[in-house]
Amino acid sequence: METATANFDIQLTTKSRINEFDANNIVFGTQFTDHMLIADCIDGEWQTPKILPYGEIAYNPAIASLHYGQSIFEGMKAFKGQNGEINMFRPLENFKRFNISADRMCMAQVPEEIFIGGLEELLRIDAAWVPEGEDNSLYLRPFMFASDVYLGVRPSQNYRFMVIMAPAGKYYATPPKVKVETEYIRAAEGGVGYAKCAGNYASSLYPAKLAAAQGYTQLLWTDAKEHKYFEESGTMNVMFVIDGKLVTPQTSTTILKGITRDSLLQLARSKGIEVEERRVSVEEVIAGIQSGKVTEIFGAGTAVVISPFAAIGYEGSDYVLPEITEKSVASQLKKTLDEIRQGKIEDTFGWVWTVK
Ligand code: COI
Repeated sequence: METATANFDIQLTTKSRINEFDANNIVFGTQFTDHMLIADCIDGEWQTPKILPYGEIAYNPAIASLHYGQSIFEGMKAFKGQNGEINMFRPLENFKRFNISADRMCMAQVPEEIFIGGLEELLRIDAAWVPEGEDNSLYLRPFMFASDVYLGVRPSQNYRFMVIMAPAGKYYATPPKVKVETEYIRAAEGGVGYAKCAGNYASSLYPAKLAAAQGYTQLLWTDAKEHKYFEESGTMNVMFVIDGKLVTPQTSTTILKGITRDSLLQLARSKGIEVEERRVSVEEVIAGIQSGKVTEIFGAGTAVVISPFAAIGYEGSDYVLPEITEKSVASQLKKTLDEIRQGKIEDTFGWVWTVK
């Protein structure tokens, strides 16, 4: 697959930090590669994107994104292939979703040659930072924010698009215990739940803090109207194995259209596992755990990949899930997904984008 490439102004670092990087000791989101990309959209015109040494940038305190939250992002991953090549996973899907989020937040559309072309250029330059190892990858974080210096409330006329990259290992060290949230909401119909905008994450922090004080690692959101149906979980979509079928809430304006979610559904179908995208009620799942019909619940997302839950908490009681084994649906799907992303097996889906 190829994309048109923009011209980039490239300034390389004279002091690489790669020697400080230890692929056996990665803490998500704490260490960044040597370079970053910056592209400014000024009055609707994209300027020549720059690749610069990673570092701090100064801002005017009146920029709109700081005050009114016009800010979106994507989470993507790159992997080291079997012959040392670098593979991005389904980058066009993230590119499309980014511009859907931009549209909802009244922000500029980013051209493919800057989004995909910029990622490729950065990955060529910082190739040494893509770690090897089973659960390791390079996490790619494209993001954009309003950069008008103006305190009036209106869509900004200027935007800054950036990409930074951070080595990633396993997101959760142990299976999370997750609280079914029945008081606070993540998203309501007509809102911005389907957009990957910064505010969705900010508003989740308070209920997540309350849940953490009760011993839970993460939240399982329910619908805003009745708190009866599952939506998604923290930073990921949620999937259930019910009677051997892979069941997940259908996407809507309140649920993020996860790319890992979609990949797992396609993989499950290809393995002959029955898939259902439908409303899943809390009642069905609690009863199913008790009767043994619900055998797995897991989160699916770029950062977490597949994260089996140890237990879910609902109205003060914890419902413990069976331990995951090699035969579990989550393990089977994760194995195949990893093998495709690392180029260990043929990619019959056309998901892998090898950087030229
Ligand atoms: C991702 O999976 O890329 C996410 O967006 C989660 C992130 C907020 C850690």
